[in-house]
Amino acid sequence: MIPLHMKAVVKTREGEVRLETVEVPKPGLGQVLVQVFAAAQNPSDWMKLERSWPEHDVIVGHDFAGVIQELGPDVSSEFRKVGQRVAGFLNACVSVEDGGTFAKYCVADAMMLVDLPDSMSFESASTIGLAAFTACQLLWQNQKLPTPLDASRYSFPISPQILVWGGASAVGQYVVQLAKQSGLQVITTASPQNNELLKKLGADVVFDYRDPEVVAKIRAFCGGKELNVAIDCVSVDRSVTLVTDCVDDCEGSYIALVLPVEIKAKHIKSDFTYVYTLLGKSISGKYTYPAIPEHYELGKWSASLLSHLAKKGVLSTIPTRVVPNGLADTQYWIDYQKEGKAS
Ligand SMILES: NC(=O)c1ccc[n+]([C@@H]2O[C@H](COP(=O)([O-])OP(=O)(O)OC[C@H]3O[C@@H](n4cnc5c(N)ncnc54)[C@H](OP(=O)(O)O)[C@@H]3O)[C@@H](O)[C@H]2O)c1
Repeated sequence: MIPLHMKAVVKTREGEVRLETVEVPKPGLGQVLVQVFAAAQNPSDWMKLERSWPEHDVIVGHDFAGVIQELGPDVSSEFRKVGQRVAGFLNACVSVEDGGTFAKYCVADAMMLVDLPDSMSFESASTIGLAAFTACQLLWQNQKLPTPLDASRYSFPISPQILVWGGASAVGQYVVQLAKQSGLQVITTASPQNNELLKKLGADVVFDYRDPEVVAKIRAFCGGKELNVAIDCVSVDRSVTLVTDCVDDCEGSYIALVLPVEIKAKHIKSDFTYVYTLLGKSISGKYTYPAIPEHYELGKWSASLLSHLAKKGVLSTIPTRVVPNGLADTQYWIDYQKEGKAS
């Protein structure tokens, strides 16, 4: 039986992060109620805690993996089933309606769920949410790159190489594997201890981003061929400068960004994409967007692609560290990540 109340980590109107007893949400039209078995932490957790000041107490936490417990009034039992194992993400920490995942239950869009094979643990699956959907958005929202479903139907870019800066980040690990499965040659950067992990995910070559010669080495690896597409999974001033130096400054070149930073180049196009637009609803706060139907279509397509890859056993989740004391220590682990200690 679904209880009326649950424990959840909330950000209070005063800005405190507290474990509270709150009402279990009800699934609305197009939604399902998920019992959360694991919830992963993201940099977005501390960023939103600092930057959004909603009028009500809101639930923290974006990523979840768990089991469907109830279907919304119009959700067909042919499409979603009570007892189904799923993962996904929410636009958390902004409103009571959008909810959050550091809780016993959450409601989620039935179309935006990744179906989990029995072999995938909830802890591993909880890393799919924001990171894997962001990877899909970075690769396919503004570029006509091949996908794992049509890897042979290659038409763009001019060069089949892609540079993924920060391949060891959660987003980067999904970009690397999805790009490789799409038939691209993947050049990435990471700390040397992550080389092996990234090679396993499909990176063709890994460079140390702290090496003062990193740009020259990447250019040398390209061997005179143009490098036209890059995804900067870090998107701070220093990474953007280095990525821009690697990419050919010509028509057709493109850099996808995870944060809104400016690039200094004459011809290279760049875009900051915001993963929450994939949920198909308007967004207010630090970044404001209307509901964008094309983004929602990409979100639903990404959910089915990730489900397909998970079922085939070719979706590699991020290595996890399960922290003790669960939700009770949320503030400690959010500070830990903010201090840059998570790798
Ligand atoms: N736009 C969006 O919608 C969206 C969605 C999700 C995330 N994001 C943003 O994307 C960024 C990454 O998120 P995440 O969850 O993937 O982060 P994460 O997993 O916490 O990333 C940590 C990793 O980033 C790597 N890194 C840090 N600085 C680097 C640099 N200068 N160059 C290359 N690699 C570097 C480190 O790799 P090594 O261990 O190899 O040193 C570190 O392990 C965050 O800023 C996040 O807010 C944006």
